[in-house]
Amino acid sequence: MKKILITGGAGFIGSNFINNVFKTDLNWKIINLDILTYAGNPANLDNLAHRFLDKYEFVHGDIRDRPLLEKLFFEKKIDGVIHFAAESHVDRSIDSPHEFVKTNVEGTVSLIDVCTKYYKSFKKSSEFRFLHVSTDEVYGSLGTHGYFTENTPYDPSSPYSASKAASDHFVRAYFRTYGLPVVITNCSNNYGPYQFPEKLIPLIILNIMEQKTLPVYGDGKNIRDWLYVTDHCNALIKVFKKGVPGETYNIGGNSEQKNIEIVNLICKIMDRLEGRKHGSSQKLIKFVADRPGHDRRYAIDSTKIKTELGWKPEYEFEDALEKTVIWYLENKKWVKSVKTGTYLEWIKKNYNR
Ligand code: NAD
Ligand code: TYD
Repeated sequence: MKKILITGGAGFIGSNFINNVFKTDLNWKIINLDILTYAGNPANLDNLAHRFLDKYEFVHGDIRDRPLLEKLFFEKKIDGVIHFAAESHVDRSIDSPHEFVKTNVEGTVSLIDVCTKYYKSFKKSSEFRFLHVSTDEVYGSLGTHGYFTENTPYDPSSPYSASKAASDHFVRAYFRTYGLPVVITNCSNNYGPYQFPEKLIPLIILNIMEQKTLPVYGDGKNIRDWLYVTDHCNALIKVFKKGVPGETYNIGGNSEQKNIEIVNLICKIMDRLEGRKHGSSQKLIKFVADRPGHDRRYAIDSTKIKTELGWKPEYEFEDALEKTVIWYLENKKWVKSVKTGTYLEWIKKNYNR
């Protein structure tokens, strides 16, 4: 059984990834290292610790804690790493950029540094990989034409994307300088279950549930290339198993949507599902001040991962958006705990922080 270290596995994408792994025939033991910030929620993990006693272990800790990392790598004899842990929200990064440097840059460097020492001392197998999960936001903003490829120069706009760009550079440097077998993925915007309601799609769903104002930044015509989280997770498995060390793979849904179109669609879906008069939730839309440095358009060219690793997205945007809305409507307990901070109280009680 391979021992895979996952960082940030209690967050949105990490928890979807881990829950999906336990639905496959991958014979992995997962060690999930997560400090449980506001975005990390043990309730995202479907009681795995009880259901898969010998195949899942949660470690409450910080990716900047080198002694803890050394203990994990050297005692558990890790066979590979998938690194999700990060501060991930652009608006928060505008308020407190330094938090993003601490986790995304310093945290990533601590992790790859200890990982390299461990990898060198144990001469791990040729299958060992450090998969660094990153974002398309490192490439900056597109005009009306063109796509991000793996060769697009980095041009980050926000403190979040600047910190992710820096972490990508460090990971690549550890491949070139020390020979750590890294693979990097740059993925577009994800949506799906367990996403913290600070991001556009869950925020709009939850605000409609409470019939609150729906804030749309600027003119609402900024474009993102949306990908259902399960499609991202499947791509990560392919890259982890078959990706070539030192290579980067862009991952996108080929599904460009304007923010205002998404908000309108969620209004339509929710009015139908909740039996409201067509058009009633749209009245809640409010155009608000634009985000500073707001990137206009992201769009990914995923040709490389499609042709070289045989991945393709399976979910259609409108179907998967409705599936996501239904998940939030059916998981009111999760929504309530996230909104009231019940789970943060639980973390304080259990982990004293
Ligand atoms: P998230 O904010 O939902 O989760 C981040 C997780 O990292 C949380 O569980 C948090 O507790 C944990 N964490 C934060 N600081 C930590 C630390 N110092 N030590 C240990 N754990 C820590 O983020 P997400 O949306 O799941 O994103 C996961 C990764 O994917 C990030 O690296 C992000 O940059 C990248 N990404 C996200 C998207 C997206 O649309 N959400 C798209 C492309 C790439
Ligand atoms: P977000 O989900 O924060 O992801 P990112 O900034 O990483 O792309 O935002 C997605 C888009 O939605 C982005 O263009 C900003 C916009 N947005 C709003 O218009 N209103 C909101 O309340 C939020 C959170 C985002």
